[in-house]
Order: sequence, then C-alpha cells, then structure tokens
Amino acid sequence: MRLPMRFYGDPVLREKTQPVGEVTEELLRLAADMVETMHEESGVGLAAPQIGRTESLCVVEVPADVDVDEEGNRLHPDIDMPMILINPEITAFSDDQESMEEGCLSFPGIGGQIRRPLAIALSYTTPEGGRVEHSLTGFLSRVVQHEVDHLNGVLFIDRMSPVRKVALSGRLKRMSRETEAALGLA
Ligand code: NI
Repeated sequence: MRLPMRFYGDPVLREKTQPVGEVTEELLRLAADMVETMHEESGVGLAAPQIGRTESLCVVEVPADVDVDEEGNRLHPDIDMPMILINPEITAFSDDQESMEEGCLSFPGIGGQIRRPLAIALSYTTPEGGRVEHSLTGFLSRVVQHEVDHLNGVLFIDRMSPVRKVALSGRLKRMSRETEAALGLA
C-alpha cells in the first residue's frame, strides 16, 4: 500500500525515532509499504518519519547500474536491494569526503550540494532479525547517510552551505507554511 508522504514543515520530520524492539509482522508490513511508496515516488530511499512514523526504520534501493565505480565495476555486489534497515547505526565514517547534489522526497523540487564522508561502516538489524555489518561507499553510502539522518530528525538542508540555505530560505519558508496550513497547524 502506498503511504502518504510528509513534507517539510511537518513536525514528525524533526522527531528522533525510537529503536525497534522486536521485528514483528506489522513492522515487516510497514517496511513493504515503505518500499512500495519509495518506488511510486521514484526515490532511492525513504525513512519512517517521511510517512509519519517514529520507528527506527528506513528502506534504500540504489539501482545496480548506479552502484558502480568509475570503471563500471559493481561496488556492493553482495548487497541485495531493496535494503530494509532496522535500527541502523553508522559506526564509522571515512576521513575522505565528497560533495554531491542531493534531493529529498519531503522537499519536492529542492536540491543542493551536500558534503558527506565518502565511506561508512553500517550496522543494522535485518528483517530476519539478525544484526549485520557492511562497509559502504559511493552513492549507496550517501543515500544511507541521508536516511539515517532522517531517523535522527536531521534533514539535508541542515547540511547545506549557508549560502545555499540563504538562497533557498524563501522557498523553504513557503513550503513549511503550506505544510502547516494543510495539517491545520497554522
Ligand atoms: Ni530525504
């Protein structure tokens, strides 16, 4: 089932999510609905707050032809997509950083260059309930960092350069006001 998206200005996007205690049927149903919603929205990642939930849960799907190095070799051939990440935790960041254009389904039409560590060590619970660890790099590492930020109430605009944020401030204020009005908060 496709779930309704939450947009910038919705307080749930600033909430820190709660750890999942046990992997239940209901949680797996939610994860499946999030994967379907991500596909329908043509996104590469979706975090629970973006559909109004507060579980520490996000889903990621980077197409195989994007998950490649400069020579076209697959970077993470051992990782199946979509990834369902329960209680994900980034346990290490590389010193190397990279800047790249990002967008977010909760900010339609808004993008900006975001500098992030190139590689991470990621630990998470799988739908089967086991805890696994992976080293991620490149675009997949970036998407996971973006989604784990969401689980901590951190949004990509928080990581934009001050100059870009100033340039976007009018549009962001308008988006926030529209969301608040739609929610009956304004
Ligand atoms: Ni996002």
